[in-house]
Amino acid sequence: MKLFIDTANLDAIRRVADLGLLDGVTTNPTLVSREKMPADKLYDEIAKICEGPVNVEAVSQDADGIVEEARAFHKRAPNFVTKIPCFEPGLKAVRQLAEEGIPTNVTLVFSPSQGLLIAKAGAKFVSPFIGRLDDISHTGMDLIEDLVMIYENYDFDTEVVVASVRHPLHVLEAARIGADIVTIPPDVIDKLLKHPLTDIGMKKFLDDYAKIPKG
Ligand code: E4P
Repeated sequence: MKLFIDTANLDAIRRVADLGLLDGVTTNPTLVSREKMPADKLYDEIAKICEGPVNVEAVSQDADGIVEEARAFHKRAPNFVTKIPCFEPGLKAVRQLAEEGIPTNVTLVFSPSQGLLIAKAGAKFVSPFIGRLDDISHTGMDLIEDLVMIYENYDFDTEVVVASVRHPLHVLEAARIGADIVTIPPDVIDKLLKHPLTDIGMKKFLDDYAKIPKG
């Protein structure tokens, strides 16, 4: 399972890259707005850190505009992937861009039926938002199970990026289901790593080491 980091914060991205765990980055306009830097400049800085897919969101509301944005991203860096919302102009743009060999990630996905159309349109990635489904009392993880099954049934190449992750159990459950990728906020990466018994065990070993007579 590949790990993407779900942030536009350069320090957080560098930290995960230094850990050797960075397979890609996902951003969205909300995350970018927190960084107080022009979006294009920020995207270029992220692409310097991350060799894998750097997902950046198109904001045009018509297919031609989205296609133009995606072409421009692709020209700037081949590892930019254009995130496109799941709506009619978006799917039209995904099809056009697939024909041109330009990768897309369809975002704001909340149902298996959307996922089926997205794969048929030729998207490289699909981003189901499981946390936002949980927030409204739907089981977000059911969507991941459905998408993984549907894509396997028909050998679709579209990869499932589990998005809107809120806690470590989301990551573990996605791994059990066999999702291709999970995009994880920085605080959840910390929670995946930390265990109080590890901290207690390390302290005990260091304390006991100090008691060993020095030769
Ligand atoms: C994914 O690509 C999105 O940026 C992100 O996962 C949305 O998460 P949220 O629902 O916590 O905003």
